[in-house]
Amino acid sequence: MIVLGIETSCDETAAAIVADGWDVRSNVVSSQVDLHARFGGVVPEIASRAHLELVNGVIADALGLAGITFARVDAVAATCGPGLAGALLVGVSAAKAIALACRIPYVGVNHLEAHLHAAWLQDPAVELPLAVLLVSGGHTMLVAVHDDADYTVLGQTVDDAAGEAFDKVARLLDLGYPGGPVVDRLAAQGDPTAVRFPRPMRGDGLDFSFSGLKTAVLHEVRRNPDHDVADLAASFQAAVVDVLVDKLAAAAEAIDARTLVLGGGVAANSALRRAVTDLGVETGRRALVPPLELCTDNAAMIAATGFRRLRRDGPSPLDGGAIPALALPTRPRPT
Ligand code: KG4
Ligand code: ZN
Repeated sequence: MIVLGIETSCDETAAAIVADGWDVRSNVVSSQVDLHARFGGVVPEIASRAHLELVNGVIADALGLAGITFARVDAVAATCGPGLAGALLVGVSAAKAIALACRIPYVGVNHLEAHLHAAWLQDPAVELPLAVLLVSGGHTMLVAVHDDADYTVLGQTVDDAAGEAFDKVARLLDLGYPGGPVVDRLAAQGDPTAVRFPRPMRGDGLDFSFSGLKTAVLHEVRRNPDHDVADLAASFQAAVVDVLVDKLAAAAEAIDARTLVLGGGVAANSALRRAVTDLGVETGRRALVPPLELCTDNAAMIAATGFRRLRRDGPSPLDGGAIPALALPTRPRPT
């Protein structure tokens, strides 16, 4: 079964063709980062307008790269939430129009669930349960994946997301937006032990907190304005990675995970990728650190999730809308 996936929840306009829920025939992403950079963050109205301008071309590219036309598409999936309302509506409306015109089923996909399903794109036979660390500009969560429709949120941030912390620290160090890649690059030249930043909530359950860490960096910069920026970046990054990996280790232990999975934009971080790979070796669990194009926002994960939701639950109604605050469907969290 060939599924066309469409993703427009934030600032990437993406479309992909995936066969049978795992075989990626094309995966096209048009990033709007440059449009938002001068504002230091995503501007929702600019994002919606850009999605509108880009979406048809991106879908045409996805079909073209897969070497097919609409006639070969069996179903269309689009992110219906969570995300920016106006941005989501563009993808959902495009998908419904295609479903109607081509007389194929439409399925609305939960963006967070789709990040979890990226594991099956990398390995269709991945061993369960998975302990997934999902870290991006918008979310920071630890999720237990028991099967492809059964999840438990084990922990999440109580304030800033991990990527948000990278972006805010980059802003206060005057490094530009988005901050993660710059901090990562600079950190490679710095000393991660130069400043001992706090490891917030380390050893204290599976929730995260990053806003205090950002403030600690601010105080350090004020106290010592001549600090080497690379040392600050490396020390901050070390604190974030320590906390993320400690909690992933605890989560994996709690559910006796077979596989550790990293997802979300912060999964691009080189220190984090290394640390998760090492954790796998240390604990005898498999560490799945998918290629970047499957970690960051993409439509292949939407198509893959759409395929499984369609098989299990059937199509979504065409009057179903975009749901900006859609939550991940989960089992209650263990106490
Ligand atoms: O998943 P994503 O592309 O978009 C969403 O937020 O959904 O994630 C973007 C976030 C930004 O906060 C960015 O600074 C962060 O991921 N990021 C990184 C790196 N590359 C991107 N953070 C740390 N290190 C990186 N190399
Ligand atoms: Zn995302």
